[in-house]
Amino acid sequence: MTIDQINITPNGPSLSRIVAGVMTWGEWGADYAPNQMSDMIRHCLDIGITTFDHADIYGHYSTESTFGEALTGLGTSVRAQMQLVTKCGIRLETHRRPDNMIKSYDLSRKYIINSAERSLQNLRTDYLDLFLIHRPSPLMDPSEVAEAFSRLEQDGKVRAFGVSNFSPSQFNLLAGCTKLVTNQVECHPLHPKCFYDGTFDELITAKIRPMIWSPLGGSKYFKSEGTGVLRLRDVVKTLARKYGNVSEDVILLAWLLKHPVGAIPVVGTTKTSRLDNTRLALALDMETQDWFAILEAATGHEVA
Ligand SMILES: NC(=O)c1ccc[n+]([C@@H]2O[C@H](COP(=O)([O-])OP(=O)(O)OC[C@H]3O[C@@H](n4cnc5c(N)ncnc54)[C@H](OP(=O)(O)O)[C@@H]3O)[C@@H](O)[C@H]2O)c1
Repeated sequence: MTIDQINITPNGPSLSRIVAGVMTWGEWGADYAPNQMSDMIRHCLDIGITTFDHADIYGHYSTESTFGEALTGLGTSVRAQMQLVTKCGIRLETHRRPDNMIKSYDLSRKYIINSAERSLQNLRTDYLDLFLIHRPSPLMDPSEVAEAFSRLEQDGKVRAFGVSNFSPSQFNLLAGCTKLVTNQVECHPLHPKCFYDGTFDELITAKIRPMIWSPLGGSKYFKSEGTGVLRLRDVVKTLARKYGNVSEDVILLAWLLKHPVGAIPVVGTTKTSRLDNTRLALALDMETQDWFAILEAATGHEVA
């Protein structure tokens, strides 16, 4: 089974139903060389994962360029088969950016445009399919962000825009000035906030699908030994046996995919076998009581 494409809003753009998150493909994780990244990209494309999620900061500003080198190794025809997403706005302290004196946000017109241009250069492409503001800044001037987006769109450098980690009111503030096609947010059983704070309600109303980061809970689920996590893991493991001896990541993804918001998970694995597993999650129709069993285990109490 190949993974399908899906419209993130009724008028597009279209992304793959599962997105490959590359945050740990580079220096912040597996530290893949360009040829190894080429193999990962090729594997993703073979199974229908055509969308790749970046941020300028990944690998302390190095992963985009390793990925760009990997793309070059795959030949020119490959770019048309994929969608590249990246983010801007966070300034990290690192030797690669000696001007960054302190971790901060910059959503000025100039910074956003420069950042997009630098990502294009690093990724060795002439357009981005989707460009996101990584985090809301208390200093965000929505009209200035809109001006930057408009310039990038008119110049053919970016095809669609969105945000990440925005509250519903922050989203609406910017959406009043420019078209946004997604809000990329954290959601998993140990962080179900989006179900309750209006984030998903608002996106359903606007017919916009969220992209979900850490859809498996990342290190919170797999590496923590806290009582709550162990209780959750017991339930997930039991359900993994019930649904055909699948792995825990399949159950966690299926749980997220059951929500009517139509989430697009950004899966952060560095292993091809786990990318393959995502197809099992797409095919798994979780029973409603099992969905609540996971929620109860994660929150530590039954619903009211
Ligand atoms: N917008 C934002 O602010 C933001 C923030 C963070 C991340 N992101 C994006 O979201 C993507 C995903 O984030 P994430 O990496 O935190 O998410 P994740 O997909 O929830 O977690 C991935 C981690 O789980 C491990 N894992 C998966 N299945 C496993 C299993 N069965 N057993 C043990 N370990 C398992 C993976 O290890 P292996 O590599 O060994 O499979 C990897 O370390 C990132 O790559 C990035 O693109 C965005």
